[in-house]
Amino acid sequence: MHDSRETHPRAFVAGYPIKHSRSPLIHGFWLERLGLRGSYEKLAISPEDFPAFITDLKKGVSGYVGGNITIPHKEVACRLADRIEPLAEELGAANTLWVHDGEVHGTNTDGIGFVSNLDSEKPGWDRSEVAVVLGAGGASRAILQSLRDRGLREIRVVNRTVERAQELVDRFGPRLSAHPMAALPELMRDAGLFVNTTSLGMDGSEAPDLPFERMPSGSLVTDIVYVPLKTPFLEKAERAGLATVDGLGMLLHQAVPGFEKWFGKRPEVTAELRRVILADIGEVR
Ligand code: ATR
Repeated sequence: MHDSRETHPRAFVAGYPIKHSRSPLIHGFWLERLGLRGSYEKLAISPEDFPAFITDLKKGVSGYVGGNITIPHKEVACRLADRIEPLAEELGAANTLWVHDGEVHGTNTDGIGFVSNLDSEKPGWDRSEVAVVLGAGGASRAILQSLRDRGLREIRVVNRTVERAQELVDRFGPRLSAHPMAALPELMRDAGLFVNTTSLGMDGSEAPDLPFERMPSGSLVTDIVYVPLKTPFLEKAERAGLATVDGLGMLLHQAVPGFEKWFGKRPEVTAELRRVILADIGEVR
């Protein structure tokens, strides 16, 4: 007898390790709420096995319609995919793959997730022309690219290792500039947006005491860290009377384009979805 489950689209998140990924919770929530048949599974794939995984994906052996790629495979996925969207090509990293006519296509939705979160939580945030971005690691790139593409005039990249910030300036162009940590107080004085892209403040770790009170009133502070939801940076910014947006929304919004590609319906980021993820994190409020 025909097994109808075989025709349901199956998607994955592949990483190493993968245990802590919350993506299955997000996509599972949407599949259920939209009444769609489909599945989304966690796959622990080692770096040695990853190229064969992509080959099988192309051949249709595994039966997946596509999936998310996470640490440490985003760069390799970008190289192994048959077609990469220009935005992901510039980043050199793909987090979303889909199979079409025997070819693996790839893009990166982290930047879209970042700006969509701000658009939804603080419309008009992009009227500020000057941004300070702390950090120059993997997470910083997509954010810098998305701020540049949104048209911000000046993006100041601040990093402990200033050479890493300079590499990103060289990559993303003249509207960016690189600075050491010591320059932060001065750089924040006329900035309308501050973004933390480092792990500082994550899981109770220390974060430097930054002078948010020096930023112009009406400025926005956001953080990619979402455990805790109210990070030390957000707490200090709030105390200084600034607007804040937490990092959970970026995680939820970056998942939207992939879901739409694999399962055919555009899902919404709702307060209920936030509550489900917060409960999982242990931050029910
Ligand atoms: P990810 O891919 O998650 O961004 P990463 O590539 O290791 O991780 O980058 C971590 C970022 O946090 C970097 O900008 C790092 O600064 P360096 O480039 O100087 O290493 C920053 N970071 C981590 N711990 C830090 C600390 N104690 N003080 C200042 N910056 C820190």
